[in-house]
Amino acid sequence: MHFPLRRSSLSIVRRRPAESVRAVDGVNFTIERGESVGLVGESGCGKSTLGRCIVGLYKSTAGEVRLNGLPVVANKRQRNANPRVAQIIFQDPYSSLNPRMTVRQAVLEALHVHHAIARPDAERRCSELLDLVRLSSRVAHAYPRQLSGGQRQRVSIARALAVEPELLVADEPVSALDVSVQATVLNLLADLRKDLGLTLLLIAHNMAVVRHVCDRTMVMYLGRIIETGPTERVIADPQHPYTQALLTAIPRLEPGRRSTAPALLGDPPSPIRLPPGCRFNPRCSRAEGICYEIEPGLIGGAGEGTVHAAACHFAWTTPSTVSISEPPSSQ
Ligand SMILES: Nc1ncnc2c1ncn2[C@@H]1O[C@H](COP(=O)(O)OP(=O)(O)OP(=O)(O)O)[C@@H](O)[C@H]1O
Ligand SMILES: [Mg+2]
Repeated sequence: MHFPLRRSSLSIVRRRPAESVRAVDGVNFTIERGESVGLVGESGCGKSTLGRCIVGLYKSTAGEVRLNGLPVVANKRQRNANPRVAQIIFQDPYSSLNPRMTVRQAVLEALHVHHAIARPDAERRCSELLDLVRLSSRVAHAYPRQLSGGQRQRVSIARALAVEPELLVADEPVSALDVSVQATVLNLLADLRKDLGLTLLLIAHNMAVVRHVCDRTMVMYLGRIIETGPTERVIADPQHPYTQALLTAIPRLEPGRRSTAPALLGDPPSPIRLPPGCRFNPRCSRAEGICYEIEPGLIGGAGEGTVHAAACHFAWTTPSTVSISEPPSSQ
């Protein structure tokens, strides 16, 4: 997914080539039914853009998204005609709900938009959905402003689940919430996934969020997936220097951990003019000759089950520089 930049008259006159933001750039992966996959990376790396392409909110510049083998169409009418395919929930539960609708009205609306559902059935289904996201029937008549952030996010989840989607993309569903509330919403997602067999793509800034919910994690950097593998493998044995740095940035994983990985230096380069070679090279403490010339693809490590792979010329060549001596306590 490349976003073209508006060209100035000067660049048109001087015939400079049109530039674009390469928000998602050559990404290829599969999510199995019932799987829960984390997508992690710092701000601006393309996570939301990828999530929007997957549910058909953006039409990608090239390539294709398929669900159940069928191409996802970036067309509102078709999406509404077939909402069961994929739903997305966003970071900010404050802006994604209509302030003039009660919780019950908001959920009923989601039920009605997509189904011709009889009123008594809709009422029953609405109560079931509120139960499912553990909202008491007392809040059914409350307005969004009367709810806490966590409650609002539960309403968004209930609305997304109203159509029984096969895939739920949750775009940073907890980053706007208080730390104490984050765990309860994450646990809810983990339970829903188990109970409903939901397929989940969970987008987050750091590994701590995806760790308890996701079987597999993909780490994204400047539009590319630079490491992917079973979540625990990626955390215990990160191969890409960027993943290593991301892991050192999690304060909660700090106790008992010896880390020699450098913290991330500086900001990511512009996704408009990427450096030649590996796109992480300006910030990488290990970069040498080849890293400035050749962009590495994902290289898989040995092991069973889901492949653990990293896009670094030095992946699997030396022991990882980060070690975690004890797992952090789970919530
Ligand atoms: N509609 C758009 N038009 C032009 N550029 C865009 C558009 N949407 C996103 N971008 C650019 O694409 C890149 C990726 O943005 P995106 O929102 O996908 O990142 P993100 O990983 O979700 O970040 P965050 O963690 O802050 O939500 C950024 O450089 C952003 O400026
Ligand atoms: Mg985002």
